Amino acid sequence: MQVIIKKTIEEIANEVSEKFATLIEKKPKAVLGLATGSTPIPTYQKLVEKIKKRGLRVDGLTTFNLDEYVNLKFPKESYRHFMEEHLFHPLGIKREQTHFPPEVNPEGYDELIQKHGGIDLQILGIGSNGHIAFNEANTPFDAKTHIVDLAPSTRSDNSRFFPSLDDVPTQAVTMGLATIMEAKEIILIATGANKMKAVKAMLSGVATPSCPASILNHHPNVTVYLDEGAAGLLY
Ligand code: GLP
Repeated sequence: MQVIIKKTIEEIANEVSEKFATLIEKKPKAVLGLATGSTPIPTYQKLVEKIKKRGLRVDGLTTFNLDEYVNLKFPKESYRHFMEEHLFHPLGIKREQTHFPPEVNPEGYDELIQKHGGIDLQILGIGSNGHIAFNEANTPFDAKTHIVDLAPSTRSDNSRFFPSLDDVPTQAVTMGLATIMEAKEIILIATGANKMKAVKAMLSGVATPSCPASILNHHPNVTVYLDEGAAGLLY
């Protein structure tokens, strides 16, 4: 894993959006793996700017998102809604180009990704408990796309988007760790001091189920971008 520490979130957003823009320029039919959460928002903003400024075409792209809530009472909090707002609508990416893991036959999602030739570049955030997508602690490393029960700490972290903790769904459907590991290239971004423990566990060099993100130690092409807060325990 290559680890890059930047002073500001803006610098991270600039570099990561540049990697996506370069890929889209070189491969207009690229398959993108996309993440939600607060972390990738600045990167998506920069990517929208770059794509528009350079006049890049997006109509050949295919996207696969990492995860989606199950039994959501608030459609505005769906991850599809998030992606529409931050990336798909600003870029004019059509619904049929985009995919989210389904509640019915979730494993079919892995097959669909493979049918499209696999994910060229996957962006990831990390949960404060070390989860990636919604793969919580002790998810088997060979898990494909599946339904999960969300950890209490994840529901509490995500409650900031809902009227109350009780409104946060208890389940989600997520790409599995094996699905994520099939991406050709992965970029993980972690910003803020609340991620420092998870980052330290991820970068310990050993893949351990208690920190799902640590499986990335076994992937041949991962770059981790950290700000100084998230890198706080590495010095
Ligand atoms: C959610 C998502 C993850 C994301 C994590 C961190 O649980 N399922 O994909 O990485 O939150 O989110 P944030 O970037 O808001 O800290």
